[in-house]
Amino acid sequence: MSLALEKRPKISVIGTGYVGLCTAVGFASKGYSVLACDVDEAKIEKINRGLPPFHEPGLQEKLSESLAKGNLSGVVGQIDRVVGETDLTFVAVGTPSRPDGSIDLQYIESAASNIGRALKQKDTYHVTIIKSTVVPGTTQDIVKPALERESKKRCGVDFGLCMSPEFLRQGSAFQDTVNADRVVVGSFDKQSGDKLEELYRDFYSGHVPPIIRTTLSTAELIKYASNAMLATKISFINTIANICEKIPGADVKVVAAAMGLDRRIGSLFLDAGLGYGGSCFPKDVKALIACSKALGYTPELLDATENVNRKQPLKAVEFCKQQLGTLEGKKIAILGLAFKPDTDDMREARVIPIINQLLKEGATITAYDPVAMHMAQIIFKNKIQYAASTMQCLQKADCCILATEWPEFQKLTPQDFIKNMKQPILIDGRRIYDPQVFGKKMKFVALGLGQPI
Ligand code: UGA
Repeated sequence: MSLALEKRPKISVIGTGYVGLCTAVGFASKGYSVLACDVDEAKIEKINRGLPPFHEPGLQEKLSESLAKGNLSGVVGQIDRVVGETDLTFVAVGTPSRPDGSIDLQYIESAASNIGRALKQKDTYHVTIIKSTVVPGTTQDIVKPALERESKKRCGVDFGLCMSPEFLRQGSAFQDTVNADRVVVGSFDKQSGDKLEELYRDFYSGHVPPIIRTTLSTAELIKYASNAMLATKISFINTIANICEKIPGADVKVVAAAMGLDRRIGSLFLDAGLGYGGSCFPKDVKALIACSKALGYTPELLDATENVNRKQPLKAVEFCKQQLGTLEGKKIAILGLAFKPDTDDMREARVIPIINQLLKEGATITAYDPVAMHMAQIIFKNKIQYAASTMQCLQKADCCILATEWPEFQKLTPQDFIKNMKQPILIDGRRIYDPQVFGKKMKFVALGLGQPI
């Protein structure tokens, strides 16, 4: 049963990145009144015009709808106002990596202090929920003291505090927000957790996912453990891929498909390739390693996950050299720049180390991506050339590296490469092409594929 409209709590969200904006639009799209707050004026201005500041399928439509219905409003700064006018505040600010892998908590600390100051002025019960990915202990040891110090009130008595990690994937972030596999409610005290659980039950009414009630630090660890497991699964299959390459006739794709049928293993996240990128896995694995080491335990398995992932993209460069000898003056076409399809995000994209190494070895690069070109231009400036289409990218290239499995690249045929390239050599870094078809028509190297027998 969903709550009557007038009983629905008002919601504020601090930080309008992927997590914050999807959370804000998710609640607003279901009729809640939401204030989305960010210090970045340009971002809020775009949001208030119905334009998400990043590429995310389906989000723009839901954002425009929510604005039109008056359910959502973007606010610059003014945490005191948004906390004052709402009942629950989700904190979704960034937690960037420091050089040693640990995370920088300055935005969390400042959000917590600002919320605390707002709570001082408030006489109704308010719940703050940390959604940002933070290492175990952060909500208890950093957020709670800041809230109590600034508000001069007591957590668990005068106001509530929860930690509820998100599990959304870029590219399907909005869908993941409204259809979750599970919801984790870590709470300082029972009342805070009950309030948040009640909100989630109303939000998901009709299809409430399993709700796990736990402590703040267990909730924090669930997020890291989940991402570390998925990252380890990827590094595991990449290790098997590297073994396959040494075995004539072996193919990691077939190995993974067969393994995945074992329900204990499962078929997802067993796609071998150039490794994992993005703003989450690399950062979260490093943060969990740093946190664990700070606690006196060296997590060797996670160190290995990281090491495999660091080396994996450079295999594309090795393959290029095997095919072309020296790379000096060779023209390499790169198809795909985003860290995965359906996003323009290039944070920790696997092509970054690949392109840097190719440039070091004297190659010239032309790259194409359906949506991430503007991001690549910020990173590589005039060090590489940018093509307007796949075919233009392939023009007169000595070798092509397929780095992101966008659907439009999956439709390419050997003819497309043969027709446009100087010499048709294709390195399939994401295993999207059929070796039986491509291997017969052109020089084709695929990650995790042993030589034909
Ligand atoms: C990841 C998790 O999947 C989400 O559950 C989590 O909420 C999110 O991080 C987060 O912490 O916020 P995301 O980074 O959007 O989501 O991307 P994924 O789809 O998980 O892919 C991450 C990387 O792994 C990509 O570079 C992808 O190409 C690579 N990958 C994925 C593989 O190489 N093989 C696979 O089988 C799957």
